[in-house]
Amino acid sequence: MSGLSRTGRRRHYLLCAPTHFDVRYSINPWMDPGLPTAAEVALSQWQRLHGVLTDLGHDVDLIDPLPGLPDMVFAANGAIVADGRALVASFRHAERQGESPAYLDWFRSRGYTEVRQSSALNEGEGDFLTTGDVILAGSGFRSDAEARDEVQEFFGKKVLGLTLVDPRFYHLDTAIAVLDEHEVMYLPQAFAPESLDLLTERYPDAIAATEDEACLFALNAVSDGKHVILPTAATRLAAQLRERGFEPIGADTTELLKAGGGAKCCTLELHGVQPGDAD
Ligand code: ARG
Repeated sequence: MSGLSRTGRRRHYLLCAPTHFDVRYSINPWMDPGLPTAAEVALSQWQRLHGVLTDLGHDVDLIDPLPGLPDMVFAANGAIVADGRALVASFRHAERQGESPAYLDWFRSRGYTEVRQSSALNEGEGDFLTTGDVILAGSGFRSDAEARDEVQEFFGKKVLGLTLVDPRFYHLDTAIAVLDEHEVMYLPQAFAPESLDLLTERYPDAIAATEDEACLFALNAVSDGKHVILPTAATRLAAQLRERGFEPIGADTTELLKAGGGAKCCTLELHGVQPGDAD
């Protein structure tokens, strides 16, 4: 596959500045409220991510961060969005439940035709990744397996359920990255055996990450089909991506990792045509 040249597609993303970022509670194994966080480092790492996305020519919208919601920077969890329809998250933990009304308001005020909060526990694009004709759906820690039917019905797209088994990789987007419509990279041991069978069948040539890379949150990568944003320390994965014609771009999210998040967690993709897009 070496020498293959990729074409990226212009994307539309929703981000939330880490104005109120902090680690004050623990709802995943990465979070230790006893450790100090540096607000200015979180902000500069997030600004770098924002800058890379806009420099690549993508549309980036912002939702206002709210005080008292330190995890709101992780916009990927806010909803699943495609073609003017938004299925807003229902968070498992009380600490994040206050984010849902903010997302409902954001989509409604922007003229999305169909906006509703998920009736099952559903942590948005953290657990539901759109790829080609299918939505990969993670469960095991945050979103319920019951959320799949609702997603399938709401978007009229086939959903492929995957069970996560390692608490460090508690959202699907920490264990697998969608690179383009037919390619992914993932950590095999983060998945239950039946789910791994589904993945190997669907993506026989996928890039397998190591546990060390997954622990850098290198699988929490943002890809536009050509450029792949991931931590600079993930040099082996970057080389593998290059070999397949992708262009890796380093962006560090070490401060956000103290809350168990990385680049993809901060980036909600608004798939398809959105209200206000030029006709
Ligand atoms: N502290 C946040 C939580 O535990 C991190 C969310 C990371 N988001 C993601 N899409 N993986 O909910």
